[in-house]
Amino acid sequence: MDWDQMIRAELEGLVPYAPGLREEEVRDRSGREDICKLSSNESPYGPFPAAIEAMRAELHGLNRYPEGASVTLHEKLSARHGVPTERIIVGNGSNELLRLIAQAVLRPGDEVVYPWPSFVVYPTVTRMFGATAVPVPLVDGVHYDLDAMFAAVTERTRLLFLCNPNNPTGTIYTRDAFEQFLERLPAHVLLVLDEAYFEFVTDPAYPDGLTYFDGERPIVVLRTFSKIYSLAGLRVGYGFAPEPLRHALDCIREPFNVNSVAQAGAVASLDDDDEVQRRRDENQEQKTYLYSGFDRLGIQWVPSETNFVWIKTERPVEVFEGLLEEGVIVRAFGPTPALRVGVGTPEESRRTIEAFEAVIARLGSV
Ligand SMILES: Cc1ncc(COP(=O)(O)O)c(C=O)c1O
Repeated sequence: MDWDQMIRAELEGLVPYAPGLREEEVRDRSGREDICKLSSNESPYGPFPAAIEAMRAELHGLNRYPEGASVTLHEKLSARHGVPTERIIVGNGSNELLRLIAQAVLRPGDEVVYPWPSFVVYPTVTRMFGATAVPVPLVDGVHYDLDAMFAAVTERTRLLFLCNPNNPTGTIYTRDAFEQFLERLPAHVLLVLDEAYFEFVTDPAYPDGLTYFDGERPIVVLRTFSKIYSLAGLRVGYGFAPEPLRHALDCIREPFNVNSVAQAGAVASLDDDDEVQRRRDENQEQKTYLYSGFDRLGIQWVPSETNFVWIKTERPVEVFEGLLEEGVIVRAFGPTPALRVGVGTPEESRRTIEAFEAVIARLGSV
């Protein structure tokens, strides 16, 4: 069999998504039991109590297929956000929605503009459907430049991803900058606002993407239950899209794309705004602790609107490995002179700073 003939040429060179290291691997490598997994921007806390109860109740019905159209979840999201259900889509993580959107609109030769560094799935879904990736570098590798993103738009641009706040840098673009950008963006471009970390944001200059969504303009807003709602393992995300696009996504998704336990957990989570607030506050507190620890150690960090912090280092690989030896898993991005450090529990924050201290003692600096 000539597999090069069999497999679509566009897929050549793609690499599987690399998840963060597993705790078991690091336990073996470091010889430590108490591993801090701060590499996948997960919540350090379990699902909300009401979600656990709802999911447990759902287990007895697992002999049945899920509700195929996730009706209850749609209705709940609709009531909460004031958006008709016909403009709402849910997915097996917002990741599935990114892929479905690309699948629905991209043709070979189309261009897809996105910031870089940003979420690694944007280039994958671009190439998967034969389109051309147009990454736009962040200023100093950290800050958005929406003028540069606008300048990258051509007649062939079909999709433009904006990740706000951005993963992995934790940075945002402001309302003013976004409104100027939006005013100029030509109508043939579908703008996808990926707001996976929306609930962590505290900066009042942050533009809530949903404000700009009217069901007419070519704008999609994506959110997820994986982050502040602590349901990453279930895979459930949602999006708001104009009806014709939403219809197309609905047609090409798997018939039962969100499992029944996930639907139950998501629905129950949406009732507990106090818990969201508590977790946002706790995240802020831990970030403040990390910032002051990094300052004390002379480590440069970037103010974050998310549940992770982007720190600068000239020796990312050595520091990453050094932290592993201390039982702390962060995320490295090849030779990029930075690391992404997740925000964990108070105990994990303390361990993180201690681990950096130990690495600096060994390496001399970071
Ligand atoms: C920016 C961004 N978008 C989307 C996702 C996907 O989230 P999920 O598929 O878990 O909803 C992630 C996950 O880390 C992310 O960082």
